[in-house]
Amino acid sequence: MPRLSAAARHPIRFELNGRVVAGEAEPRMLLSDFLRHRLGMTGTHVGCEHGVCGACTVDIDGVPARSCLTLAVQADGRRLRTVEGLEPEPGRLSVLQEAFRRHHALQCGFCTPGILMSLDCYLRQHASPDEADIRAFLGGHLCRCTGYVPIVAAALDAAQKLREASHA
Ligand code: FES
Ligand code: FES
Repeated sequence: MPRLSAAARHPIRFELNGRVVAGEAEPRMLLSDFLRHRLGMTGTHVGCEHGVCGACTVDIDGVPARSCLTLAVQADGRRLRTVEGLEPEPGRLSVLQEAFRRHHALQCGFCTPGILMSLDCYLRQHASPDEADIRAFLGGHLCRCTGYVPIVAAALDAAQKLREASHA
């Protein structure tokens, strides 16, 4: 990686939800701040700002990542997805989002974007998780409202629907 000046802004360019975006970021700027404040993508939430709560999770090259622990310059050249990119077409929820709606898997919704992004990545790699798998995976996310039961139910339901769709 080229040497970066601490004071200067550096150009970055990456794919975000299927579109190329570009901007400038100071080397210490967090990806979560770049998404929210430079690009106006406020669907990514910021809670603890030190990697504990999971609210800021985004998809970087198919892997869930804490955007509060990622520098904006590290996104350069990568492929990112945020919660704004989940819907398959405008106004239509993804299978996972629809399962969250059906199971009432959110209350205040603060944790929801991060959980959705993590589960979206997870279900792409794990077609048949059981409840223990989902609970272990969700250990990286804090939700103060739901008690997790409806979130787990939604994840299992979404996994089943995705399996059915892949065999249709
Ligand atoms: S805001 Fe990033 S993990 Fe909490
Ligand atoms: S729905 Fe409120 S923190 Fe999870």
